[in-house]
Formats: sequence, structure tokens, C-alpha cells
Amino acid sequence: MDHRPLVVGLGGTTRPGSSSERALRGCLAIAARLGVQTVLFGADALDLAHYGGANCMSNPKAERLIAALRRADAVVLSSPAYHGALSGLLKNALDYAEELRNDERPYLDGRAVGCIACAYGPQAIGTTLTSMRAIVHALRGWPTPLGVGINASQVIFDESGASSTPDVNDQLDALARQIVGFVKMQPVRTLRPLCAAE
Ligand SMILES: Cc1cc2nc3c(=O)[nH]c(=O)nc-3n(C[C@H](O)[C@H](O)[C@H](O)COP(=O)(O)O)c2cc1C
Repeated sequence: MDHRPLVVGLGGTTRPGSSSERALRGCLAIAARLGVQTVLFGADALDLAHYGGANCMSNPKAERLIAALRRADAVVLSSPAYHGALSGLLKNALDYAEELRNDERPYLDGRAVGCIACAYGPQAIGTTLTSMRAIVHALRGWPTPLGVGINASQVIFDESGASSTPDVNDQLDALARQIVGFVKMQPVRTLRPLCAAE
């Protein structure tokens, strides 16, 4: 049994060589070197039916995703900017977190969540990071102070997730350190929803 904290990464696109998937891979690799275990859900693993449809939970991929998010001590999200916001692929995957609503730790409660946005310009980087962080708040996660914005038109990643740009590598390193640093802090208190009997 591996007792190290678990960091779950979600993101990327179906495009071969996806920058958002490689940036995510790079960030998780740094986190792993800092002593956590990691698992990456790339575009194939996130290619799920629209959440809420009749049979959406009959897919084993959905069960794997929910199980990993339930166990996660921290999460890293990585998205392209598609028309100024995160991809539908990632948003749909995050909608599956609704299956965690009745958990002891509902949704992403108490977990640090790092966000990475890849775009072709600063405007979409900003709006995409903002929308991702709003979703993290809605899921009761704790967005890290640093959000990583990458101009994918000017950066080349290798398969391990290391980039041609030292500044990008530095940002991914800082994000991994914030995630792992938060995981090693005292657990935060879970706020239970009030019910009529209380
Ligand atoms: C459907 C679509 C919409 C896009 N919209 C934007 C956009 O609004 N702003 C922008 O800067 N880049 C936009 N891009 C460029 C992507 O954000 C950029 O190529 C990103 O790096 C893709 O991620 P990937 O390398 O992981 O596939 C768009 C690309 C696609 C395919």
C-alpha cells in the first residue's frame, strides 16, 4: 500500500503533442520528485459522455475518475483556452465531481487545486484561468495562489513535460511546490452543509 499523498492531474486535449497535457505531465513529474504519488487523466481518460445523461456512470472510465478524485489529496487541472475559457472536455469531466456531493469530503473540499491554462495569447490565458478557478471554488477546492499561464504558440514541450522556456519550467515547479506544500500542511476543516435539524 502506498501511503504517500495522491495528486491527481486532469487535462489536455486530443491533439497529438497537446501542450496542456505535456505541461500537466511536467508539473506532476516535479510533484512526484517532491514525494507524492501522481496519476494523470489525459484526454483519452476524460473522453466521457455528457455528465447527467442516462448511462453516463456505466462507463468504467467515469468510475476510475470519480475514484481518483475521491482519494485525491490535491488536484492539478490543465486546459487549453477554447474561445476564451476552459475546454468542454475538462468542464464535463469536472461535472462528474457531482458524484462526490455526499462524501465525507464533498466535491474537492479542502484540497489544493492548481490550474494551468495554455493559449495563444494573454487575454485567453487570463479568462481561462479565471473560469477554472471559479469552478474550483464552486467545488470547494482551494485554488493555489499561482495559476500558470502558458503562451503555447511560443513554447515547445518534450514528452516528459519539460519545456523549451525556463520561465515556464519555473512556473510549473512553483505550482508543484505550492500543491505539495499545501498537502503537507494540517488538514483543513470540512464545512458540513447545515440541515434543518441543526
Ligand atoms: C477550438 C479552439 C478554440 C481556441 N480558442 C482560443 C482563444 O480563444 N484564444 C487563444 O488564445 N487561443 C485559442 N485557441 C488556441 C489554443 O488555446 C491553443 O492552441 C492551446 O495551446 C491548445 O492546447 P493543446 O496544445 O493542449 O491542444 C483555440 C484553439 C482551438 C482548437
